[in-house]
Amino acid sequence: MRKLIVANWKMNLSRQEGINLAQDLADALKDESKAQIIICPPFTHLAEVGSVLEGSKVALGAQDCAAAEKGAYTGQIAAKQLADFRVSAVILGHAERRSYCFETSAEIKQKAIQAQSAKLIPIICIGETESEKSAGQTTKVLKKQIEESCPNNDNVVLAYEPLWAIGTGRVPSPTEVAKIIDEIKKIKNVPVIYGGSVKTQSAKDFLHLENLDGILVGGAALKIETFLPIIKAI
Ligand code: PGA
Repeated sequence: MRKLIVANWKMNLSRQEGINLAQDLADALKDESKAQIIICPPFTHLAEVGSVLEGSKVALGAQDCAAAEKGAYTGQIAAKQLADFRVSAVILGHAERRSYCFETSAEIKQKAIQAQSAKLIPIICIGETESEKSAGQTTKVLKKQIEESCPNNDNVVLAYEPLWAIGTGRVPSPTEVAKIIDEIKKIKNVPVIYGGSVKTQSAKDFLHLENLDGILVGGAALKIETFLPIIKAI
């Protein structure tokens, strides 16, 4: 499988900034890229960013979907509605949603089931806190999250995002990541990507790890000057 590079724009970029960045990426990646790139803008930008990316090497993703198929769920967006916009993947259970929106692993599993039935690849985020890491509980925590958040099939991507690395500038060493990815794959043998403060140098290190299937990039994916070197790091 080609390495996967997922850009999580979170709640950033105006409509026009999003369109411009997508256009810059589509232009820069005209030639064969060694990686599969998926851009996940806010819902409001999906239609226009999607049109800009049409026919390019860059795919479109979303940052969440509803746990139900349809109905009276004010403010929610169904996986099938995302599929209408040619969204091909969806980030689920991001640490920020688990924490600010009190999302449980059981809900995330329902979201993943909806995503799969709409033919979207669920990218399910897992990760330990700093105190869980210090207490030597990383594997135990990840195992529980995987068992409770994943549907009973292998049609998912797992994103290992240690909470202490998200937006902090701190990253685990490539050796540490490689060891944890091995442990994750023993629990569920699916593609696993790493996320948390990825910048050009760490991207280079991580993308060269044999057992790691890609990276999830937040802050550094918001500017072409910082994102392009990450893509080229492979
Ligand atoms: P970051 O975000 O690269 O800004 O740490 C990654 C993520 O939260 O997905």
